[in-house]
Amino acid sequence: MHHFSYHGSKLHCEDVDLNEIAGLYGSPTYVYSAGTITDNVTRLQASLAGLDLQICYAMKANSSLALLRLFAQLGTGFDLVSGGEIRRVLAAGADVRSSVFAGVGKTEAEIELALQSGVFSFHVESEPELIRINHVAGRLGVVAPIAIRINPDVDAKTHAKITTGKSDNKFGIPMSVAAAAYDAAAKLPHIRVAGVQMHIGSQLTSIGPFREAVEKVVPFVAALQKTHDLAYFSIGGGIGIIYEDALASGAEQWWEKFSDEDRPLTPESYGAVLGPLLQPLGLKILLEPGRFLVGNAGVMLSRVEYLKRGAGKNFLVVDAAMNDLARPAMYDSYHEIVPLERDSSRPAMVTDVVGPICETGDCFAKNRKLQTVGEGEVVAFMSAGAYGYTMASNYNTRGRPAEVLVKGSAFELIHPRESFEQQIAGESIPAFLT
Ligand code: LLP
Repeated sequence: MHHFSYHGSKLHCEDVDLNEIAGLYGSPTYVYSAGTITDNVTRLQASLAGLDLQICYAMKANSSLALLRLFAQLGTGFDLVSGGEIRRVLAAGADVRSSVFAGVGKTEAEIELALQSGVFSFHVESEPELIRINHVAGRLGVVAPIAIRINPDVDAKTHAKITTGKSDNKFGIPMSVAAAAYDAAAKLPHIRVAGVQMHIGSQLTSIGPFREAVEKVVPFVAALQKTHDLAYFSIGGGIGIIYEDALASGAEQWWEKFSDEDRPLTPESYGAVLGPLLQPLGLKILLEPGRFLVGNAGVMLSRVEYLKRGAGKNFLVVDAAMNDLARPAMYDSYHEIVPLERDSSRPAMVTDVVGPICETGDCFAKNRKLQTVGEGEVVAFMSAGAYGYTMASNYNTRGRPAEVLVKGSAFELIHPRESFEQQIAGESIPAFLT
C-alpha cells in the first residue's frame, strides 16, 4: 500500500497535487511520501510483533537527511555502509547507537568513526576484517561488538547483480568455517561476539529463499548460543516491492485479487513464515530493509520534451536521464510510468521512453503502452524512492534532481536541484596549464 493515487484526473502524493510540485520546483524531481514510509515501518513491525525486533533501515536505498530524521522519529536504527553514511545520520540529528556498520571493505578510518560514534555492532565480512577491527578498537582502548555475516549459499532468485547469498558471491563467510571464525573472534581481546548476521539479496519477491536461508542458519545460531553469549540474530534486508503494477498496488483491495499462493510477498506473509522460525532462539532480531521501506514511497517526476514519432516506432523524450534514475540502464529494471493528468478520452500509444543522453542505454522503457502525452506534460516514474536519488550522478554535467517530502497536505523542498556551480565547486585548473 502507498499514498500515490488519482484524485479525479490528477495524480496526488497524499493530499498534494503532483502538478503543483512540478510547477514549483521543475523537473526532474523526486517526491517522497512520509505517510507511506510511516505505514511501511508500522506494518513490518506489526508483522513480527511477538519478537524483540529492531529495524535498521538500510539507508543506501535513500539517504536524504529529511528521511533519516523521519526514520529516527519512527524508532528505527540504520544499516550503515560507509563513514559518509555515519556522518549523514549524525547530520540528520540522529545517533547510531541502534545502528549496525556493514560492508565488505571497511577502512581503518571508517572503523574508528563507527567506534567513536558508538554503533550497536559491526557486521563482519571476513577474517582479515575481524583482525583490523580488533586492532583499531585496541588503539582506541575500547571493545567492538560484532556479528559475522554467514553466507548460507541460498539462491535468492533475484537479479544477478543484487544477489548476495550464494557461495560464489563476495559476501560473508561460508557456514562450514563460521564456527571456527567465531571461536577465533572470541579470543581477540578487543572484540565482543554479539550476534550472527545474514543477508541473501535484494528485491526478493517470494518467501521461499528467506525461509530456506533462515531454516539453514537458525540451527547454527542455536548451537553457537551454547558457547557464545549472543544478543541478536540479524536476517538482513531484501524484501521486494511491486514495480509492474505499482500505482494500482497502492489500493488496499489490490491484494485481494490474489490467491494465498500467488500473492506477492507482503510484510504480513514474511512475518507469518519467519516469526515462528525465529521465536525459539529468544534473541533480539534485527532486520535491515532498505527498498521495502522507501521504494514505493517515492516517485520521480519528469517533463516530456518531445514526442518523436518514427517509422513504426515512437520515442517519448523526457527531461530525466539515466544519471537521474540509473536502475533501468543498470538492471533492466521496470518502473511504471503514469501521466500526472489522466485523460481517458485520449488514445493510448506504444512508445519507448528515453532520456536525452547520447547512449542507447539511456532508455527507461521499451514499447510501453501509455496514455498519449505531449510536450510540456509531466509523468511520474513510480516506485523510485529506493536506489533512485542515491544512485544519481552528474553524467553529462547534469545537476542531480530536486527532492520534496510530502506529509498530508504539507510539502517542502528538502534538497534543491544541484546547480552547475555546485557541480564544479571542487575543481581547479593546474598551474602548468595556466
Ligand atoms: N543489508 C545488506 C548487507 C545489503 O547489502 C543490502 C542491499 C540491504 C541490507 C538492503 O537491501 P534491500 O532491503 O534494499 O533489498 N541498487 C540495487 C539494489 C542494491 C542492494 C544492495 N544491498 C537496485 O537498485 O536494485
